[in-house]
Amino acid sequence: MRWLAVGEAAIPEGTGWLSEQEAARAATMRFTKRRTEYRLRRLAGKRAVASVLGRPVNPTSLAGIEVLNRRGGAPYVVVDGEHAQVDVSLTDRAGWAVCLVGPEGELTGGTLGVDLEAVEPRSRGFVTDYLTAYEQEYVRSQGELGSEGWDVAANLLWSAKESALKVLRVGLRADTRSVEVTLGDYVRPDGWSPLVVHAGPSERFPGWWRRDGVFLLTLASREVTDPPALLAGGDDLATGEPTHSWMANPLAD
Ligand SMILES: CC(C)(COP(=O)(O)OP(=O)(O)OC[C@H]1O[C@@H](n2cnc3c(N)ncnc32)[C@H](O)[C@@H]1OP(=O)(O)O)[C@@H](O)C(=O)NCCC(=O)NCCS
Repeated sequence: MRWLAVGEAAIPEGTGWLSEQEAARAATMRFTKRRTEYRLRRLAGKRAVASVLGRPVNPTSLAGIEVLNRRGGAPYVVVDGEHAQVDVSLTDRAGWAVCLVGPEGELTGGTLGVDLEAVEPRSRGFVTDYLTAYEQEYVRSQGELGSEGWDVAANLLWSAKESALKVLRVGLRADTRSVEVTLGDYVRPDGWSPLVVHAGPSERFPGWWRRDGVFLLTLASREVTDPPALLAGGDDLATGEPTHSWMANPLAD
């Protein structure tokens, strides 16, 4: 597994780096926020796949790497018109996007999921509505409502759930309390810490999480793996400033 982050400032002008299908999809999005996030996630996906395949990152080459969506929303990749033998997962938050890439699974269904969150305030209601009793206890053990410990814990657990629900390709159609997160108790020198997301009595998704500046990044997968390696060709998430550029111009042109 490998990963890459990009910031909004790197989004190329125009649509020449998108495929026809991607450009048409972006054009249906009237709100700048949605359109920018879609383009940003495309950039992360294309750059990551280009880096894995050793392809150039000029607009024509990027347009040949299509990051399309299955009916339920899960992404898949087509390179020069052919189905690519990779599984990808995409996420964005506050002007930054991450793509996780791995080999395609042999069974039907997703093999990996990634989710990016910022450490931001989470209410008591958020914690009680979306987290299991065990997870709520963990958040309370990390600090009072409104403290950094509370907010890191609440966002981290939420993110790990989203990662697992992306592996399952259901996303937030599922009840977030149907999966439960257990965090490991060590941090590797490369910044990754282990986690496991339990889905029912028999299914479990091992994964990893890291804190990069104001961001929390989680991933989940079908199999136990080492943490993903960072691909060349991305931006540094650890120094990334959250941006909300869409606010200046909420309706896309
Ligand atoms: C998956 C989901 C939780 C992610 O939402 P989010 O946290 O706001 O957004 P993120 O930036 O972290 O992730 C967005 C990416 O998740 C991926 N995604 C969307 N649905 C997915 C699914 N069912 N399974 C796996 N990945 C999914 C997509 O790649 C999407 O980016 P893209 O549309 O540009 O390809 C949410 O989109 C969801 O619940 N989707 C399913 C239900 C739904 O409303 N579907 C409508 C689309 S058909």
